[in-house]
Amino acid sequence: MKEEGSHHTYFAFSSALHSTTLRERCVSEMPQILAGRYHLERLLGAGGMGVVYRVRDLLHEQYGDPDPYIALKMLSEQFDGSPDASALLYSEFALSRRLHHPNVLRPYTFEVDADHRRAFITMELMRGLTLDKLLCERPLGLPWHELQAIAAPLLDALAYAHSRGVLHGDMKPSNVMLSEEGVRLFDFGLGLAQEGPLKSLPNLSRDRLNAWTPSYAAPELLDGAPLSEGGDAYGVACLLYELASGKHPFRRLPSTQARDARMERELKAPRHLPRRCWTALRLALAFDPRQRRITAAQLRDAMNAESSWW
Ligand SMILES: Nc1ncnc2c1ncn2[C@@H]1O[C@H](COP(=O)(O)OP(=O)(O)OP(=O)(O)O)[C@@H](O)[C@H]1O
Ligand SMILES: [Mg+2]
Repeated sequence: MKEEGSHHTYFAFSSALHSTTLRERCVSEMPQILAGRYHLERLLGAGGMGVVYRVRDLLHEQYGDPDPYIALKMLSEQFDGSPDASALLYSEFALSRRLHHPNVLRPYTFEVDADHRRAFITMELMRGLTLDKLLCERPLGLPWHELQAIAAPLLDALAYAHSRGVLHGDMKPSNVMLSEEGVRLFDFGLGLAQEGPLKSLPNLSRDRLNAWTPSYAAPELLDGAPLSEGGDAYGVACLLYELASGKHPFRRLPSTQARDARMERELKAPRHLPRRCWTALRLALAFDPRQRRITAAQLRDAMNAESSWW
């Protein structure tokens, strides 16, 4: 079977643009300065919905800040007129602002540039590699000590988000950065508040947007079930399997297709993974959400424990 190529999140109400086309359009049509102070320097990344720039905060620079560089995320051209999409951008900001964890990207502000009619988020600038890029450099996967150094903080960040009632919704390698300052989980654009004050945010129907990333979203999400902690556990388990072995557990197929082909029967333990971790990871990879009886915190604990395997 062929591997499917893209990690991008797809939205049902728009066909995916080829990234180079998007890149060209972004560079040519973007204003140079937003809100009178954010000088757009270069495109850092373009995903399914947003574009992210490295910017220089001219105000901070004027006050002598030696590092006035931050990141700015706005909707890409094809979504910037959609009220649903800007509400999602706000929701992404509000969800991540609820989280204070060393391994969750720090958001700064949500703003609107009235002249250019653009809403955007400013946030911490991460310098480093997203895990999808890291995987390109390490096609055989990571040895156990390197894997653990990424898995433990990442799972801690996810478990913490869940403990704050925040679901991520898009756990995949391109949404995790190995930055100079450590692991950062980011992109809560498809996240959801399960509890707490943010439950009153406008309830955007993710089903209607059909925005999940097919090879990392749990099968029940693709079948229309609501996002849950179990959905995040499935996504992070695919990611960890890939980091451990260099390969996606189900050849990057949409999870519903992998389930229907009963691909769990072919699953092999990654070579360097301690047995205890494999037991936990395999549980998190269960296609049936009722069988997926493991939380992000339990996965983290399994990854942290020194097992008898040693
Ligand atoms: N704060 C940041 N600092 C540095 N780079 C960033 C930052 N935020 C995002 N990026 C880069 O931009 C890319 C796209 O960002 P992000 O995932 O937030 O957009 P998106 O449109 O929601 O993507 P998708 O929906 O495809 O997951 C990231 O994969 C990363 O390479
Ligand atoms: Mg992303």
